[in-house]
Amino acid sequence: MNEETIICPCEDVTYSDLESVLSLGAETFDDVKRFTRCGMGPCQAKACFYQVSKLISERKQIPLSKIPYTHMRLPLRMIPLESLLREDKEKPVKTSLSEGHANE
Ligand code: FES
Repeated sequence: MNEETIICPCEDVTYSDLESVLSLGAETFDDVKRFTRCGMGPCQAKACFYQVSKLISERKQIPLSKIPYTHMRLPLRMIPLESLLREDKEKPVKTSLSEGHANE
């Protein structure tokens, strides 16, 4: 792994970026996330969490099992609140986003 190795492809965070953040005192994935946006991409840390956590574990001498998982964001696109409350899940809820789609 060299300085320009991409650790988080979604946000273009490199190994060098992580080293910088860890030298500033980051001790959790969320600390790294706040400084670099690592984990905030479309995959929501599925592709980078393990590598970052492993690096934190090695640098800070913290067992990997003690590194907390990152906080997750809600769905990427807006959904109507009604869709969470409905009991009848068979019928799709029409929204301004779904209007015009052929499968309605
Ligand atoms: S690879 Fe880091 S957020 Fe997707």
